[in-house]
Amino acid sequence: MWRFLSSSAAGGLTFMLRFTVLRSGLPILVLAVLLASIFAARAPAEEGAASMTPIEQLGARLFSDASLSEPRGVSCASCHNPARAFSGVNGSSIAAVARGAPAGAFGTRKPPALAYASFSPPFSFVEKKDEETGKIEKTPVGGQFRDGRARGLAEQAAGPLLNPLEMNNPSKAAVVAKVKEGAYADLARSVFGGNVFDNFDAAFDKLMQAIAAFEETPAFHPFSSRFDAVLRGKAKFTPLEAQGFALFKDSHKGNCLACHAGEAKSHEPKDWLFTDFTFDTLGAPRNKAIPANANADYFDLGLCKREGLAALAPAAFDVESLCGAFKVPTLRNVALTAPYMHNGAFATLRDAVAFYATRDTNPERWYPKAPDGKVAKFDDLPGKFKDNVNVKEVPYDRKPGQKPRLSDDEIDAIVAFLETLTDKRAE
Ligand code: HEC
Ligand code: HEC
Repeated sequence: MWRFLSSSAAGGLTFMLRFTVLRSGLPILVLAVLLASIFAARAPAEEGAASMTPIEQLGARLFSDASLSEPRGVSCASCHNPARAFSGVNGSSIAAVARGAPAGAFGTRKPPALAYASFSPPFSFVEKKDEETGKIEKTPVGGQFRDGRARGLAEQAAGPLLNPLEMNNPSKAAVVAKVKEGAYADLARSVFGGNVFDNFDAAFDKLMQAIAAFEETPAFHPFSSRFDAVLRGKAKFTPLEAQGFALFKDSHKGNCLACHAGEAKSHEPKDWLFTDFTFDTLGAPRNKAIPANANADYFDLGLCKREGLAALAPAAFDVESLCGAFKVPTLRNVALTAPYMHNGAFATLRDAVAFYATRDTNPERWYPKAPDGKVAKFDDLPGKFKDNVNVKEVPYDRKPGQKPRLSDDEIDAIVAFLETLTDKRAE
């Protein structure tokens, strides 16, 4: 377990030790084992995981266990690489979507970073004041997945294990059987009791709780970025970064804080998650590289297709108004998680930010031309849902011919600011 949490320096040391053992025999072997075990004990401490409890350790083993896919070879960590804030695509040839365990299986959404995901509240409709009308409206918030369809982390973890495009296990029992025969079955018994494997369904749920416990450890939310150091008064922004942060907050310029939220006056890193876990329809361009998009009739409609939505929505709520909406992602570690948006439509962070500024002033820059020669704006949504795209809020409240809310230099400044959000251990 400690191996994937440890830095490449630790990997290098282990390699050197092994090498020495081969060449110089037993006394060195004893020393090497001793050193390695001291280092192994220290490595998690350096990652802030010194005090991992047995259930968290079990979760870590499950998270990096590549035998838990069918065929074997894909673990949670394959698509959620700790070195990229727990994002990634499992070596996929398509940057936007991950390769699953079965040959030729590709997902339909870009895997999000899991760093800071544990802060998402369970999915629900909460009362929020509409800034424009002043009316109190029920707004969907939270959950796991880009459409919030899993209540929390434990419920979420079952998804990829059983998804035929991801880890592809035929049943919960098949997953539990592997763990029961595997290297850390005894750890599972010591955490959940000697008879944990007697009931496979109950055992599966317990293993999912262990994964969730691991995802709640500080390794997933170190709050160790330069931004955090600035909050704590331990570092200073460059002038460009400071300008970017000001633009990010300014409700007439970037207005980014309106959704990528933080408490403007707080110096407490936990008050700056850079998301309010709400959902919004941005109208990102269609990404032709996603295999599912080869079918012109296929659209990823996001939140409105979330399982069980109708039952959770308030009476008379227009569920279709949520077609095209995806969860606001945190921007912590965003420099490590390209490509961007639910469909990976933008290869670079600069493009993602520039899109906000010029989506409506220069749509031809982002969308293809329709057969009639007009720009096919919001081409990743079927006709009737194009009206759901947010065209009211700053910075995307512009019309062709108007000046963008952000100039090229200002976009650069915001990108420079976003680059301060990378956690130290993830760099
Ligand atoms: C083949 C790639 C792949 C594998 C393997 C995989 N995931 Fe994911 N993960 C994704 C994708 C894609 C999404 C987004 C899917 C969506 O929104 O519908 C996701 C979303 C998530 C989320 C939601 C995060 C958020 O902010 O909403 C969590 C948590 C998560 N995965 C944890 C796990 C765990 C735990 C495992 C192992 C049991 C795992 N993943 C295995 C690709 C993968
Ligand atoms: C009205 C809400 C809202 C505002 C305002 C907003 N965003 Fe976003 N942002 C979102 C949503 C929702 C997504 C995810 C969209 C998707 O997946 O299709 C997102 C995605 C992003 C991403 C991609 C992150 C990733 O991991 O893929 C970046 C970068 C980003 N926003 C930066 C900004 C910046 C910079 C600003 C200000 C100029 C801003 N946002 C303003 C709602 C908002």
